[in-house]
Amino acid sequence: MSDNTIYQFTAKTFHGLEKILASEVKKIGASDIKILTRAVSFKGDIEVMYRANYEARTALNILQKITEFTANSSDELYEKTKKINWDDFIKLEETFSIDKTIHSNIHKHSQFAALKTKDALVDFYNEKYQKRPSVNIKSPDKKINLHINGTKCTLSIDTSGDALFKRGYRKDTGPAPLNEVLAAGIVMLTDYKNIDYFYDPMCGSGTILIEAARIFMNIPPAYNRQKFAFHKFSNYDYQLWNKVKREAEKRINKEIPLKIIGTDIEDELIKITRKNISEAGLRNYIIVQRKNFINTKFENKKGLIVTNPPYDERIKSLDINNLYKDMGDTLKKGYKNWSGYIFSGNMNAIKSIGLKPSQKHQLFNGKIECKLLKYDLY
Ligand SMILES: C[S@@+](CC[C@H](N)C(=O)[O-])C[C@H]1O[C@@H](n2cnc3c(N)ncnc32)[C@H](O)[C@@H]1O
Repeated sequence: MSDNTIYQFTAKTFHGLEKILASEVKKIGASDIKILTRAVSFKGDIEVMYRANYEARTALNILQKITEFTANSSDELYEKTKKINWDDFIKLEETFSIDKTIHSNIHKHSQFAALKTKDALVDFYNEKYQKRPSVNIKSPDKKINLHINGTKCTLSIDTSGDALFKRGYRKDTGPAPLNEVLAAGIVMLTDYKNIDYFYDPMCGSGTILIEAARIFMNIPPAYNRQKFAFHKFSNYDYQLWNKVKREAEKRINKEIPLKIIGTDIEDELIKITRKNISEAGLRNYIIVQRKNFINTKFENKKGLIVTNPPYDERIKSLDINNLYKDMGDTLKKGYKNWSGYIFSGNMNAIKSIGLKPSQKHQLFNGKIECKLLKYDLY
């Protein structure tokens, strides 16, 4: 029997991508959408949850709320957690883990709060069956999420399992690869409509190129991914999941009018990019070549550059300011009528570009504060 229940979900994302994620979940039929910090909450049935997992490019994972309560002490957290009918979520023979996000003066020791939650869950099973499911931190069947804000505790189950940036196409990386969710978000923040060329001149392992191609062609972000945690949920509806996949795949457009191009100065990275492009099934859609971007030209064409140059963090560059100055000069001289987006975490070097940005977005790459800056070139 199909499950028509309306559930409460939270989709997590990176700082700066919340609005894009909100529009993505709106498009797939979610309701009651709220923008939070590095997350978006929404309501929907399991079809919305399947679609969010399959189609939301900027979601890191989709949590489904189990329950919410107030706890003024760790004992209260334990008692209320133990009252949940865990049978609905975890089978005895399955493994689980507990993830936590805690902002609270009362539950200050987040490790302890997570431990109390685990104890309550285990005691629920021990008292009922004299047996218990085991903890597996690395690869659990079910991930439980404990969120505490003050005294408000929310327990959720992760419907995705492995984080959704694990798209399934990346075989190899360079020294400083962008996260796939961040790369998709960066492309979605650009004005990519009505262009003839999309060019990442410093493509590294090709993440921006692959995510861009998938956006332009409407290829679902989880197209190459086999496993989702919800496959092991008791209400898993195989037919509905297949319908969601079929419908999304019908929207794939293989006839895109623009050309997607990538270059990098390192031969080894071009090889890696080619491997990843192949794995993503995009060999006929992206052209890559080893090239130094500096002093290149692309005349009589109109296009968009989106790139993530070295920041001098993971990739040490001899003279980072000089590289950014040369990039600015190249953009000015060789790319008239193009728009250029530079994503960088080196605010100082960015000044050396010598162009005035017409748009700025603040983002983070891991812990590094970054900016995505747009330059209109004429
Ligand atoms: C931060 S990495 C890009 C990572 C990429 N976004 C990814 O996801 O793998 C910066 C890249 O710029 C390349 N690079 C540096 N100087 C260059 C130049 N003058 N021309 C072309 N590529 C260059 C480096 O080889 C490196 O792969």
